[in-house]
Amino acid sequence: MSGEHNASGQDRSRGVAGGGVHDAYDARHGAAGGGADGVGDGGRPAGGVGTAVAEAPPGAMVVVEDLHRSYGTAAGAVHALRGVSCRVPRGELVALRGRSGSGKTTLLNLVGGLDTPDSGRITVDGTALADLGESGMLAMRRERIGFVFQSFGLIPILSAAENVGVPLRLRKVAPREREERVQLLLSLVGLADHAEQRPGELSGGQQQRVAIARALANRPALLIADEPTGQLDAETGLEVMELLRAVVRSEGVTALVATHDANLLGLADRVMELSDGVITEEG
Ligand SMILES: Nc1ncnc2c1ncn2[C@@H]1O[C@H](COP(=O)(O)OP(=O)(O)OP(=O)(O)O)[C@@H](O)[C@H]1O
Ligand SMILES: [Mg+2]
Repeated sequence: MSGEHNASGQDRSRGVAGGGVHDAYDARHGAAGGGADGVGDGGRPAGGVGTAVAEAPPGAMVVVEDLHRSYGTAAGAVHALRGVSCRVPRGELVALRGRSGSGKTTLLNLVGGLDTPDSGRITVDGTALADLGESGMLAMRRERIGFVFQSFGLIPILSAAENVGVPLRLRKVAPREREERVQLLLSLVGLADHAEQRPGELSGGQQQRVAIARALANRPALLIADEPTGQLDAETGLEVMELLRAVVRSEGVTALVATHDANLLGLADRVMELSDGVITEEG
């Protein structure tokens, strides 16, 4: 129903560090949500939570219908997903839990367009992924989806600031605008004073913060995180999850986060459980 996302949606103007990156950035550039370059928000207007889109009903950022994915191996087929259907409402932080091998990474890769299903349908931010050609999928991944991985995935020879700036470079954002946005993003994740350090000079938690800042660079509609706290100690993992929780509120982004860690589930708006390739719990 239309009210399902409002609890988090109403918090959008409340920033992590006093005013979210979108708000601060857009205020400085006089842009009304869409970004001065006309790309960033995937067509979402300024108050875009719940905005009607072509195919997804209001409230659903991700709609997955009867998804199947098998892998052929020497020993035979592995049925990683066996008819998964689920929804991720706009503006929510949804946790995906399940034992090792239950299909979490497979599902996240499919939703993020890194892999294609054997059958079934995925809609992200109103666009059916199957309708996108190669370039459309590339644009979707670059501009509307941000990825955060367990192993951080930072480029070792680049500074924190340069890592955060990579998605902006790929989109050919002008240097000055890029630098401003990188600064805002690093402030958002609490690393303004660490901009020049390389990943090897940062703690694991700090590296994951840089990765989150990088994932937010192009103002994605959807943040996909695959066990983002998996390499961190419990306390640091909780801090990173709290950061994700905060950016979902302040940046108006929707997040789908796979996690093993039961301590983190309490921060989610809802928890879905995958078991042996099917959703066994939702809500
Ligand atoms: N590239 C592949 N080739 C063959 N089998 C695969 C491949 N990727 C995944 N699988 C299998 O698919 C199933 C689901 O794997 P997946 O990585 O999605 O699980 P997961 O829930 O992410 O596990 P974990 O918590 O350990 O990360 C497993 O049985 C796995 O062995
Ligand atoms: Mg996995």
